[in-house]
Amino acid sequence: MDLELGNKSVIVTGGASNIGRAITLAFAREGANITLADLDVDQGEKVAAQAMELGAAAVEVVKTDVTDMTQVQTMVNVAIEKFGGIDVLVNNVGWDDLMFFMDTTPDFWEKIIKINFVGMLNCTHTVLGHMVKTGGSIVSISSDASRQGEPREAVYGGMKAGINSFMKTIAKENGRYGVRCNVVCPGVTVPQDDEEVGDGSMWADRNAMFTEEQFAKIAASLPLKKVGRPRDLANAVLFMASNAAAGHVTGQVLSVSGGYSMIG
Ligand SMILES: NC(=O)c1ccc[n+]([C@@H]2O[C@H](COP(=O)([O-])OP(=O)(O)OC[C@H]3O[C@@H](n4cnc5c(N)ncnc54)[C@H](O)[C@@H]3O)[C@@H](O)[C@H]2O)c1
Repeated sequence: MDLELGNKSVIVTGGASNIGRAITLAFAREGANITLADLDVDQGEKVAAQAMELGAAAVEVVKTDVTDMTQVQTMVNVAIEKFGGIDVLVNNVGWDDLMFFMDTTPDFWEKIIKINFVGMLNCTHTVLGHMVKTGGSIVSISSDASRQGEPREAVYGGMKAGINSFMKTIAKENGRYGVRCNVVCPGVTVPQDDEEVGDGSMWADRNAMFTEEQFAKIAASLPLKKVGRPRDLANAVLFMASNAAAGHVTGQVLSVSGGYSMIG
C-alpha cells in the first residue's frame, strides 16, 4: 500500500542510531524530506548519506540537544524553512542506564527526566504550534517498561509511562486540528551491526546493558522467541505516521516487543 509519505516533512529526533536510524531509513524509502535531529552529527551524516541512497527526497542533519528548548526551536525552524512545514514528528530520543532504584541518585533521576520526558515536551510543544494550522502526526517512542514495570528501569519506566499518558491528552486536545498522536513501545531492540549505532548510543557497547547469555534468555522468554530489531519498530512508526494507513488512529499505545506486553 502507498503510505503517502513521499515528499512529506518528517522530523526524527535521535535519528542517528539504532531505532532512530531505522526510522530515518524507513521514511527515506518512502521518499520523505527528513530532518534528523541528534547530538551526534557525525553518525547523523552517515545515516543521511544512506537515507539519500535509499530514496529520501532530502535529509537535513541538525545538531540538537532536545533537552534545550532554544536548540529545539532552531531545529524546527530549519525544518520549516527547508521543507515548508512539518507533517510528522517522531520523538525518538531516549536514554537509560540499568540500575536498581535504590542505587540511583537525584542527579541520575534529573538526567533521565530531562532526556526522556522534557526533550519530548520541548519538541512536541514547538511542533504543535505549527501543526495545529496544518494537521499532522506525532509518534513518540516509549518502552514496554512503561506498561508493566521493569526492574532496574524505575525512573525511566515512569517517564515513559508519562509519555503514554501525555500523548493521549495531546491526542484529545488536538484531534480537532487534524493532529494525530500515538505511541510505539519497543521491547528489547538490538542493533545487528556496529554501523547501526553511534558513539552516543546506549548500545555503543553492545553488552553494557545485557550479556549475550541475557539476550538469549530474553529471546527465549518471549512468545515470538526473538529480540526486536530496529526495522520492526520503524515499520510500526511508518504505520502510525501515515494518514493513508492510520488516519483514524489516535491516542493509541502500540507495543512492538515480540509479545512481551499484551495489554487489553
Ligand atoms: N533499544 C531498546 O531496546 C529500547 C527498548 C525500549 C525503548 N527504547 C526507546 O527507543 C528509543 C531509541 O532507542 P535506541 O536503542 O535506538 O537508542 P540509542 O541510544 O541507540 O540512540 C539514541 C540516539 O539519540 C541521541 N541522543 C541522546 N540524547 C540526545 C539529546 N539530548 N538530544 C538529541 N539527541 C540525543 C543519541 O546521540 C543517539 O543517536 C529511545 O526512546 C529508547 O528509550 C529502546
